[in-house]
Amino acid sequence: MTDVTMEKIVSLCKRRGFIFQGSEIYGGLAGTWDYGPLGVTLKKNIEHLWWKRFVLDREDIYGVDAAILMNQDVWKASGHVGGFSDPLVEDVKTKKRFRADHLLEDAGIDPRGMTLADMDAAIKSKRLASPDGNALGDVRQFNMMFKTHVGATEDEASVSYLRPETAQGMFVNFKNVLDVFHPKLPFGLAQIGKVFRNEIAPRDFIFRVRELEQMEIEYFVKPGEWRSVFDAFQAEQKTFLAEDLGLPVEKIHQVEISAADRAHYSKHSVDTEFDFPFGQKELLGLAYRTDFDLGAHAKASGVDLSYYDEETKERFIPHCIEPTFGVGRLLLAVIASAYREDEQGGEVRTYLALAPRVAPIKAAVFPLLRNKPELVAKAREVYAMLKKQVPHIVWDDNGNIGKRYRRQDEIGTPACITIDFDTLGEKPELKDTVTVRDRDTGSQERISISDLVMRIRV
Ligand code: GLY
Repeated sequence: MTDVTMEKIVSLCKRRGFIFQGSEIYGGLAGTWDYGPLGVTLKKNIEHLWWKRFVLDREDIYGVDAAILMNQDVWKASGHVGGFSDPLVEDVKTKKRFRADHLLEDAGIDPRGMTLADMDAAIKSKRLASPDGNALGDVRQFNMMFKTHVGATEDEASVSYLRPETAQGMFVNFKNVLDVFHPKLPFGLAQIGKVFRNEIAPRDFIFRVRELEQMEIEYFVKPGEWRSVFDAFQAEQKTFLAEDLGLPVEKIHQVEISAADRAHYSKHSVDTEFDFPFGQKELLGLAYRTDFDLGAHAKASGVDLSYYDEETKERFIPHCIEPTFGVGRLLLAVIASAYREDEQGGEVRTYLALAPRVAPIKAAVFPLLRNKPELVAKAREVYAMLKKQVPHIVWDDNGNIGKRYRRQDEIGTPACITIDFDTLGEKPELKDTVTVRDRDTGSQERISISDLVMRIRV
């Protein structure tokens, strides 16, 4: 069994161009990360699989892409101005701030279900100190939204926020979609986009960050019909992780969240947690948001956000089920569970056993030797033919074949295709065949160039 540590994952992500520290040449900016060429492709593959399963393959979910900046009244009505906060405690000497629940966790105390007063009492009774060894002040709420001003004046009227969830962009477009497409309940809206949270303590690489990408669905139902839809989405979330992303099912855990720990808008929540190298942590959320959001926006805006049921002749505010997915956490789960070390040719090798669907590169094409023009010309021909039909094929003629295999193994490329002298007809019976090496086993097969597309297409 490979010992998968965060150090190894962070190092591979940087070394191979998946993820870099944000603003690195200036010493970084805490809680921000930049995706490099391979990271962005892996991220887009995850997003594409999600969009396909939850939007393209269904008739009842409509995609939208709403603005990140929204009228501040959205966030007042949604409860985020008043209630989107984390418990914070300050080091009385250095004035550094820490998450109270994280300090409790680090001290072996489970903060789940605790109120602000419970956390305060626990920190005081256990005489917990700050990580710098100083006394701590009282536990307080800290609003996590990034505040900004829109336009040239900086006053209360120009206040806006970088959105902390994509959800509200869908609630404010509920009526637009209803009026234009006339969907019947149940139906949903889906969106992929950036959100921002001023985390007190970003940590665990891309797990807890200040800028992230969410994929969310707001699915509207008749009030009495929420439970079966909730259960179906819970099962579908697990299927997406296992079947689309190839995550091991034994590392996936679905956990009901107690009333004390639920978000302010939720009446029932189930988190999907995953065994990350740093422990079992939240990967996905699922919440029954009732009519909380549409009801609040109807009241605050004065716009009618009700639905008229032609069968029952009733008018009501639909209830909402929300499955929510963080792209960065999914990407981290994918890399962490694919990370492997074994021995090949007497050397330790590292590889990512990624499902071919999510792998950023589907195949690499090599000429056996880079200084033989006839090999290079044939390999270029094969490469050009494949690239037209299967995106994400790479060319590599740098270093010896062993080194090229190692590079591709580390980025999870499922197949390496080598053009050698037999391809050119040195053994006439092997003319126009190539070797295809399998990433996981290292074994090679010889196949005809005309069968290559079938072999590598995912
Ligand atoms: N919309 C739910 C969340 O951001 O967690």
